[in-house]
Parts: sequence; C-alpha cells; structure tokens
Amino acid sequence: MQLFIIISLICLLFPVHFNNGRKLSEQEALLGIKSAITDGPYNTLSYWNSTMQPDHCTWYGIICSNSSVISLDVSNLNLSGTVSPDIAFLTNLQNLSLAQNTLSGPLPSSLSSLKALRVLDLSDNHFTGPLPLSFSEILELRHLDLTQNNFSGEIPECFSQLRRLTTLFLNENNLHGSIPEFIGDLQELNALGLSDNNFSGRVPQKLGTNGKLSYIDLSRNVLTGNIPEPLGRCRPLSQLYMQHNLLNESIPKGLFGLLNLTDVDLGDNLLTGEVEIHDSVAVNLKSIFLSNNQLSGTLPPSIGNFSALQFLVLDGNSFTGSLPREIGNLHNLCTIDLSSNSFYGSIPRESGNLQQLAYIDLSSNNLSGKIPPQITNSTMLMRLNLSRNHLAGDISWLTGGVDAVDISYNMLQGALSVFLPNLRGEGDNLLLKLSWVVYALDRKLSDDYHLLFQAKR
Ligand SMILES: *[C@@H]1O[C@H](CO)[C@@H](O)[C@H](O)[C@H]1NC(C)=O
Ligand SMILES: *[C@@H]1O[C@H](CO)[C@@H](O)[C@H](O)[C@H]1NC(C)=O
Ligand SMILES: *[C@@H]1O[C@H](CO)[C@@H](O)[C@H](O)[C@H]1NC(C)=O
Ligand SMILES: *[C@@H]1O[C@H](CO)[C@@H](O)[C@H](O)[C@H]1NC(C)=O
Ligand SMILES: *[C@@H]1O[C@H](CO)[C@@H](O)[C@H](O)[C@H]1NC(C)=O
Ligand SMILES: *[C@@H]1O[C@H](CO)[C@@H](O)[C@H](O)[C@H]1NC(C)=O
Ligand SMILES: *[C@@H]1O[C@H](CO)[C@@H](O)[C@H](O)[C@H]1NC(C)=O
Ligand SMILES: *[C@@H]1O[C@H](CO)[C@@H](O)[C@H](O)[C@H]1NC(C)=O
Ligand SMILES: *[C@@H]1O[C@H](CO)[C@@H](O)[C@H](O)[C@H]1NC(C)=O
Ligand SMILES: *[C@@H]1O[C@H](CO)[C@@H](O)[C@H](O)[C@H]1NC(C)=O
Ligand SMILES: *[C@@H]1O[C@H](CO)[C@@H](O)[C@H](O)[C@H]1NC(C)=O
Ligand SMILES: *[C@@H]1O[C@H](CO)[C@@H](O)[C@H](O)[C@H]1NC(C)=O
Repeated sequence: MQLFIIISLICLLFPVHFNNGRKLSEQEALLGIKSAITDGPYNTLSYWNSTMQPDHCTWYGIICSNSSVISLDVSNLNLSGTVSPDIAFLTNLQNLSLAQNTLSGPLPSSLSSLKALRVLDLSDNHFTGPLPLSFSEILELRHLDLTQNNFSGEIPECFSQLRRLTTLFLNENNLHGSIPEFIGDLQELNALGLSDNNFSGRVPQKLGTNGKLSYIDLSRNVLTGNIPEPLGRCRPLSQLYMQHNLLNESIPKGLFGLLNLTDVDLGDNLLTGEVEIHDSVAVNLKSIFLSNNQLSGTLPPSIGNFSALQFLVLDGNSFTGSLPREIGNLHNLCTIDLSSNSFYGSIPRESGNLQQLAYIDLSSNNLSGKIPPQITNSTMLMRLNLSRNHLAGDISWLTGGVDAVDISYNMLQGALSVFLPNLRGEGDNLLLKLSWVVYALDRKLSDDYHLLFQAKR
C-alpha cells in the first residue's frame, strides 16, 4: 500500500505544462505534425495542404467527428522524422496509428494531453528512449502497441493507472527489469506481448486471474520462477508463448484441458514434472512445443484425444514409457519430434494412419523392435530420423519416396544387402532426392556411404 502511494506521488509529480500557453487549432497542429515528418515515397502528406483542401477532415488518414479529429492513421507510408509535440492539440483524438514507418526519437510527453486516446499504435518504427511516464495519464487507453522499436528502460509502475488496457504489446524492444505485478491485476487485459526484451524476475503470479487473457507472448527474455498457476484455469487462453526463458517448476495444471487453447510453446526453459492430461481435452490445440526442458513421465493414451494437433514437439526432455498406439488418432499431425528422450518399446504401426506427416524424428531414444513399414505411409513424408535407438530387422521396404532418412546407430545388421540394391536400383535420382545422407547400419558402413554420397554429388 505504501509503495502504491509513493508510486502515485511520483506519477503526480509530472504536471502537464507542455504547451507554454500556446494554443493551436487542430489544422495548425496537423501541419506542425507534418513539418516534423519527412514524407515517404508516396508523398501522401503533400495532400495535407490547406490551400488545396481547406477542410483538414478530408485529409489523408484523418477521421473527424463533429468537425474534430478523432482518428489519425498514417501507418505504413515509409514516413521518417519525429513526432511533433503539437500532436497534443488534437484533444479529441481516440485512435493514433503511426505504425510501420521509420519514425524515430523519443516520444513527446505531451502525448499525455490526449485524454480521449483509446488506441495508440506506434509499432514497427525506430523510436528510442524510455517509455514516457506521462502515458499513465491517458486513462482511456485500451490498446497500446509499441512493438519493434528501440525503447529502453523498465515498464514504469505508474502504468498501473492504465486500468482499461485490453492489449499491451511491447515486443522486440530493449526493455529490462521485472514485469510489474500490476499487469496481473489488469481486469480487461486479453493480449499481452513482451517478447524479445530482457525482462527478468518472476512472471506476475496473478496473470490469468482476470479470466480474460487469451494471448500471451513472453518468449525470449530471461524470466525465472514458475509459470503462474491461474493460467491453467483461464478459459479464454488460446496462445501461450514463453519459450527461451529460465522458467522452472511444472506446467500449470489444467492447461491442456482449456478448450480454446490452440498454440503452446514453452520450449527452452527449465520446466520439470509431468505433462498432465485430465478428462477435459484441448480439442482445438494445434501445436505443442516443449523442447529442451526437464519434463518427465509418459505420453498417456489420452494424447490421442488432441484431435486438432499438427505439431507435437517434445524433444530434449526426460519423457519415458512406450509410444501409445493412440498417436495414430492424431489425423492432422504433420510434425512429430520426440527425439532425445527415454522412450522405449516399439514404434506403433498405427503411425501409418497419419497421412499428413511430413517430419518424423524419434532419434536418440531407446526404441526397439522392427520399424513398421507403415511409418512411411504418408505421401507428405519428407524427413525420417530414427537414428540412435535399438531398432532391428529388415528395412528392404524402404525405397525412396522420402527425401531424407537417418537410421544410423541402430541394430539393423544384415539389412544393408537388401537396402543398397534398392538405392542402386533407382540410381542417381534417389541419391539426389535424398537431401540427407542415408546413414545405415553401423557406423563404419555409414561412413562409407557418406563418401559415396559426396562422390555422386
Ligand atoms: C499547397 O498546394 C498549393 C497548390 O498546389 C501549392 O502551391 C503549395 O505550395 C502547397 N503548400 C504546401 C505547404 O505544400
Ligand atoms: C458537437 O460540438 C458542439 C459544439 O462543440 C457540441 O455542442 C455538440 O454537443 C457536439 N455534438 C456531438 C455529437 O458531440
Ligand atoms: C519503404 O522502406 C523500406 C525500408 O526502408 C524499403 O525497403 C522500401 O522499398 C520502401 N518502400 C518504398 C515504396 O519506397
Ligand atoms: C479505432 O481503433 C479501433 C481498434 O483498432 C477500431 O475498432 C475503431 O473503429 C477505430 N475508430 C476510429 C474512429 O477510427
Ligand atoms: C537502441 O538503443 C541503444 C541505446 O539505448 C543503442 O545503443 C542501439 O544502437 C539502438 N539500436 C538500434 C537498432 O537502433
Ligand atoms: C539483453 O541484454 C544483453 C546484455 O545486457 C544485451 O547484449 C542484449 O542485446 C539485450 N537483448 C535485448 C533483446 O535487449
Ligand atoms: C525456481 O527458480 C526460482 C527462481 O530462480 C528459485 O527460487 C526456485 O527455488 C526454483 N525452484 C525449483 C523447484 O528449483
Ligand atoms: C473461445 O473462443 C470462441 C471463439 O473465438 C469465443 O467465442 C469464446 O468466447 C471463447 N471462450 C472463452 C471461454 O473465452
Ligand atoms: C481420451 O482418450 C482415452 C484413451 O484413449 C479414452 O478412453 C477417453 O474416452 C478419451 N476422452 C475424451 C474426452 O475424449
Ligand atoms: C535403454 O534401455 C536399457 C535396457 O533396455 C537401459 O539399460 C537403458 O538405461 C535405457 N536407456 C535410456 C536412455 O533410457
Ligand atoms: C499403409 O499403406 C499400406 C499400403 O499403401 C496399406 O496397405 C496400409 O493399410 C496402410 N496402413 C495404414 C495403417 O494406413
Ligand atoms: C538424426 O538425429 C540424430 C540424433 O538426434 C542427429 O544427431 C542427426 O544429426 C539427425 N540426422 C540428420 C540427418 O539430421
């Protein structure tokens, strides 16, 4: 509470005296904005000309209501230059988009005079400097997008006054410090993007308690601690990206039961524990990326209930157990990467049901038994990596059709005699089609084969 009072005081110490008593009409303000900008190749702003068009409400990018400018959208025009402080005189402005230009410099703090502003999109420019504290006075702000700039410093605590925010995008800047707790308290927030910065510390633990968040991207920062538990109960959640951080502990319970969930990437963290799947199943889930964590446990048969799944990427963990036959129910699957885990047992022949499969990597596990020929059933199949397992038996059925195969480091002895003629049978065509070297059998022979492949190229 004390902290809150202190913060409020700091924020109040920034009184608004930007205009030095000047008073500009809206048209004069627009011309002031124009004069700080270098027009792009389309010369769009040359039509902002009171001789040619006396009514500025007809100018490019302007929408008026009751003769007053409520929207200014000059996005994607290759404009350069800076934002003039004169913008403060567009007092009824609700929407401001300068996105996708090459505007630069720090933002004028006079932006805070725009008390009606709801949408502020400055994404994809070259703005620099700290996030202006004065933004905290734009109390109507709903949508704030500063993605892809070079803003630096921390997220000011005073932004906690922006209680109406539904969208906050600060991706791809040069920001650091912790993600302030208040972000977990924003009741209307439905999309949060803070990726590609240097944010550290814990993720606000109340994130998801508002029951409205549907999009979260915190990827590629240096965040530590756990993923907030309330996210596992946040029913609108659709996309969750937290990859490339230092997050530990387990994945929130309930996450994979959320009906609106479509995409999850939590790869390259320090997550532990098992992936729990309960009665409710995220039937809309298209992609699960959990690469390079320390996750353990088995793949339960209920994995087959994720009927929309296209990408199942679990490589570089400590998963174990056998591969459930129910994988064959994932009819939309196009990529399965279970490599570098401790799966054992045989490869289920039901994998032949998967007609969309383009990429199969089951390498570096403890799989044994024969390779079921059905594994190449998908006409889409481009890459098959089964290397570094204990697979055995005959592979004469493997005759091209796949762009790249790696079956090295298995126990497929004796099959080479069958395998090589097949390759030779199709001659150079097959060799050229194979973009990877076809490794086979034991190491010695695969080295020979490698040489053969090099020679043919
Ligand atoms: C406005 O348009 C008139 C007529 O085309 C032109 O003479 C004048 O230079 C323009 N003014 C500006 C500021 O571009
Ligand atoms: C339009 O502006 C006039 C004068 O500023 C004001 O009296 C009127 O209420 C406004 N109308 C609307 C719909 O905002
Ligand atoms: C706009 O700017 C980009 C990057 O500076 C440039 O690649 C592009 O060609 C420009 N577009 C036009 C129409 O000049
Ligand atoms: C302001 O932006 C919002 C969201 O992009 C849009 O729905 C609305 O129509 C815009 N209003 C005006 C006046 O441009
Ligand atoms: C971003 O700003 C920093 C200073 O804060 C500067 O050193 C760096 O060169 C800038 N990067 C780009 C891409 O403008
Ligand atoms: C993060 O910080 C490191 C070291 O301070 C710096 O090299 C790196 O460019 C920063 N990354 C981003 C995305 O700001
Ligand atoms: C997770 O990381 C946090 C912060 O780095 C640490 O305090 C905590 O002990 C870690 N938890 C576990 C189970 O390792
Ligand atoms: C799930 O998504 C649908 C369609 O986008 C939406 O209508 C529905 O409100 C969402 N459900 C929840 C609980 O937010
Ligand atoms: C999920 O899969 C299991 C095992 O395959 C099955 O018994 C169960 O009925 C399925 N549940 C749902 C909700 O589809
Ligand atoms: C593979 O299985 C063998 C026994 O079949 C076991 O000794 C070994 O530890 C297993 N390796 C891994 C990585 O699970
Ligand atoms: C795989 O393909 C073969 C031959 O094309 C077919 O006989 C078999 O039924 C297929 N298996 C599955 C499981 O779809
Ligand atoms: C197949 O997987 C192994 C181990 O995971 C890896 O070392 C090898 O490079 C992969 N093969 C190809 C051709 O990418």
